[in-house]
Parts: sequence; structure tokens; C-alpha cells
Amino acid sequence: MNRRTFLSMSLASPVAASLLKKDIRLSNSVITPSLLASVEDESYWNAIRDHFPITKTLIYMNNGTMGPSPREVTARVASRIEHVDSTGDYGGDYEGLKKAIAQVIGAASGEEIAFTHNVSEAISVVASGVDLKSGDEVIITDQEHAGNAVPWLARAKRDGVVIKVLTLAPDDATVMERLNALLTSRTRVIAVPHVTCTTGQVLPIKEITKLAHSKNIWVMADGAHPPGMMVVNVKDLGVDAYASCGHKWLCGPKGLGFLYITKEFSDRVIPTWCGAESDKHWDYDGKVEFLDTASRYDFGTQNFALYDGLHAAIDWMSEIGFEKIDARVKYLTTYLRSQLKEHAGKHFHFLTPDTSISGVTTIKLEKMDYQHFANTLLAKHKVRTRVVAESQLFANRISAHIYTSPADIDIFVAGAVDVLESKG
Ligand SMILES: Cc1ncc(COP(=O)(O)O)c(C=O)c1O
Repeated sequence: MNRRTFLSMSLASPVAASLLKKDIRLSNSVITPSLLASVEDESYWNAIRDHFPITKTLIYMNNGTMGPSPREVTARVASRIEHVDSTGDYGGDYEGLKKAIAQVIGAASGEEIAFTHNVSEAISVVASGVDLKSGDEVIITDQEHAGNAVPWLARAKRDGVVIKVLTLAPDDATVMERLNALLTSRTRVIAVPHVTCTTGQVLPIKEITKLAHSKNIWVMADGAHPPGMMVVNVKDLGVDAYASCGHKWLCGPKGLGFLYITKEFSDRVIPTWCGAESDKHWDYDGKVEFLDTASRYDFGTQNFALYDGLHAAIDWMSEIGFEKIDARVKYLTTYLRSQLKEHAGKHFHFLTPDTSISGVTTIKLEKMDYQHFANTLLAKHKVRTRVVAESQLFANRISAHIYTSPADIDIFVAGAVDVLESKG
């Protein structure tokens, strides 16, 4: 299908409408006719794209690793640094930012949010602090980023906790069946990605949580990807904790993550790293009382410029609207896959299940080395993608965000075919 054909599938087209409706329902977004129409409005998205300096230098399709920021974000970071260093006025609106994050992910309030430096640290807060004894079991998947494997393995090493590995399948029913079969009377925590870093598969977190809670098991989702990519509602998912960051799909400054944790769960997760502002009270008789809120996990001197930057990113994206962003990302992913499908079989096959539409798509090359493909695509066509060595997939991951245009996708697909068909 060429781009014109795809793009001309308007709201009036039952194919496009049902395609988008089906996809959008995956994230529980509310779909309205005006939302559908704006998803295809290229002049609107071109104006959005202009806010991102990276679009002037290359075709960036590795948002899954690092989300470039629009100018508004970097300007706010720079202005806070300038302010602190020219006035000595140290501090920032961290409560306001926690409230904004809570709104983005559907938490009840900022009191359920702790700041961290990245996703791995948010996971480490839970993995190192949760009340576990030797022989207790934690389930992770066979498609983890190191960030959700290493902290649990460290805990296993320290305290004799047993790590069990859930082998994922492309469909939710098999995933649930396999998970059920792994549960024992010693299972305490299920720690799995909401969207896998390897293939972008969206896991059935709501079903997982329902099953886990019926057996008094805690659920922590590694939510590195979804915020800013798809509509997230942690209350609807029912998770006890959700680890994420501002530096991927929220397009915030790099080096600021966050942890959502319910009050009930935080009563069972003792702060491992703590300090000034973790506590309500401490004394020299050996007493320390932690805050009742998630702020017990963040402490000490922080870089408030990053806080301001993430707040700016959330404000900026909120103005576009998270439902609209969710719909646009799915639209671009659907277009990307439709274009790639025309070349699948001969050169590569899809690792991402067809039914999982996030902003991420992973392909496995049939003959060419995955690293050579990524390097050549970048050198020859200025398209940046990511290699996936995790889980020994040796595959290639492509992501599309709000600054990606359908024309970028065309250049990527043509470049990919050129690289795959060249002898070099
Ligand atoms: C699914 C997943 N989890 C965790 C991480 C680690 O994130 P961070 O570098 O913010 O710790 C990543 C990073 O790409 C990821 O994709």
C-alpha cells in the first residue's frame, strides 16, 4: 500500500476507522470523530515536529531508548540552572510535578509518586526494599531489559530469593496460562514489563494483577515505555507499583525517573536508600520514622532543573492531549507495519505480535547481521534505530513518536530495503 493510499483512508473509510478503533481500544482511550480526524492532520503534526531539533539532523526512530525533547523543555531546564546559579535560590516545585505525573498515569495523588533518576532506580527501590525472605519467589519474564532483571537478581543473591522466569507468548491467553502455572504458595511478587523493550509487546497487566491479587501477590510493572506513548491508568491496571521515567516517550530531560507506589504496598517496601526528607522524625536514640507518602524514597539534593524540564514536557504534551498522542503513535505504527509487511518474508519477519500495537516494532532479519543493518542504515540513510541483543534476539527495533512523519517512515522503509538488498 503506498502512502497516498494509506493516508487517504479517512474517517469515512470503514477500514481505517475500524483499524484505528481496534487499536485505540487496546489502551482504553476514548475515541471521538474529531480525535480520529486530527490523527491524520499532517499540517498539525508538522508544526509539532518543528519543535524538535532532532528532526533537522536525522530520522530518529529510537525513541524507545531516549526521547528527544522539544525546545520548550530544554529552555526550561537551562533557565532553572541559570536561576539557581545566579541567585543561590535552591529548590523547586516538586509537589506540583508529582501531581502532574500522577495525572498523566492516573494515580490518586502526588503522594503516590517518588522521584528517581531512571526506571532502573525506581525498580531497585522496590526490589531492594520489599519484604521478602529466603525461598520467596519473584516472577519476571524472558524479555526483560537489564533494568528489571539485575535489581531482582541482586536481591536473589543477597537474600536467597528465587527468581522464576515467565516465557512470553504472542497471545495474552497463553501468557496467562503460563503465568498461572508458575505461581506457587511462595510467589510474592510479579515484576513484568507493561510494554517489553525487546518487541514492544503490550502485556495484559490488568489480568495479571487480577490473578495476582486473588492470591495475595504484589505486582510491579516496569512502565519504562507507556507514559507519553499510550494512555496509562495505574488504578485501572490495578498495579501496586509502576516504574517509569520522563526521558523516553514523555520527551523530558534525561535522568529523571519516577515510581508510583500505593500506600498499602509502600508499607511493605522499606526505604533502602534514604536521607533528608525521607523521614518524619529521627533522633540519636536510634529512632527513625519514614514519611507515609512515596516521598520516603526520594531524598537529598536534587537537580530541580530536571524537575522543571519534566513539568514543561508534561504541560507541552498535555496541550496536544495524551489521547491524541496515543492515537497518533498507533496510527504511525500501523502505517509503518503496513509498509514493512510488503517486504516481509524475503528479508525479515516480525517479532512483535500483530495484535500488540504500541509505538515499537521489532523485526528479525533473515540473512543480514542485525548490527550491520543498523549501522549501515544510519551511515547511508541517516536513520537511527536500535539493535535488540536482549534475550538473544539479535533483532532490530524501530519506534515512531509524534515527531515522526509518514514521510520519515517511507524513507526508513526504502532505506531498509536498500540496505537489505545491497551486497555490502
Ligand atoms: C522496558 C525497560 N525497562 C527498563 C529500562 C531502563 O530504563 P532506565 O535507563 O531509565 O533505567 C528500559 C530502557 O530502555 C526499558 O526499555
